[in-house]
Amino acid sequence: MSAAASLAPPPHVLAETRALYRALSGTGAAPQTILHGIDLQIARAEFLALTGASGSGKSTLLYLLGALDRPTSGEVWLDGVEMSSLDDDDRAAFRNERLGFVFQFHFLLPEFNVLENVSLPMLRRGVPRSEADDRAYESLGLLGLEDLWRRKPGQLSGGQQQRVSIARAVANDPALILADEPTGNLDSRNAELVFDVFAHLAHDQGRTVVMVTHDREFAIRADRQVALRDGRVLGEGRRGEDILPSSRRLLPSDPP
Ligand SMILES: Nc1ncnc2c1ncn2[C@@H]1O[C@H](COP(=O)(O)OP(=O)(O)OP(=O)(O)O)[C@@H](O)[C@H]1O
Ligand SMILES: [Mg+2]
Repeated sequence: MSAAASLAPPPHVLAETRALYRALSGTGAAPQTILHGIDLQIARAEFLALTGASGSGKSTLLYLLGALDRPTSGEVWLDGVEMSSLDDDDRAAFRNERLGFVFQFHFLLPEFNVLENVSLPMLRRGVPRSEADDRAYESLGLLGLEDLWRRKPGQLSGGQQQRVSIARAVANDPALILADEPTGNLDSRNAELVFDVFAHLAHDQGRTVVMVTHDREFAIRADRQVALRDGRVLGEGRRGEDILPSSRRLLPSDPP
């Protein structure tokens, strides 16, 4: 069945992958399959933790969910749109307008102050400066950083820097926030703060959050945990459930 003939997911599903494969073809060597047919539905306002050992394919899946990479085969649906139906420009526009990314390293620009770091992506998209600054300031407020807006990133702690990068991802008003080990470099207090911010964004603001994490405690406290192993879904658990060593998949009919 071609992508165009596929039915869009139901409205409560914000993101869905269908039979998602990602292979890398090395020079001469046999292609290496990194994701082996991932089927995943992520509900609107869900806070999902993606776990798995190093090399299990978490970042690869996150990049595909963020339309930063193209699958070898399969489909990625975001907010009713199948990503392969868009050309490169439209996909980039979709990404800039609808998605927010947070990485382990914050990638803040050292020569710009905190407010400018948050407003720059909006300015690049053509948002007028006064509006971009207002939204940046509001977003910094959500992260408890409004008093630090004049500082340069180098004058902030690691936890504050990471929160600025979350403010930057959120200022755009994204439907989906994708975070790759956002607490990986933080001490436990700051990691806790960042976790709480993501939970707030999902539960109080209706945003959908997918967070890759190696932290088992955080994974258990998210709405749902999906664990990968060798490019396949190993199992899932609802909040409070430690999924290992079980390997079941949750069905939509399972009680919450
Ligand atoms: N550009 C690439 N070239 C070659 N191999 C790659 C490339 N990107 C990913 N891989 C391989 O694909 C597999 C999955 O990588 P991925 O980065 O998705 O894992 P991960 O679960 O995010 O791991 P980690 O927890 O270490 O970040 C690994 O075996 C990795 O070596
Ligand atoms: Mg990774």
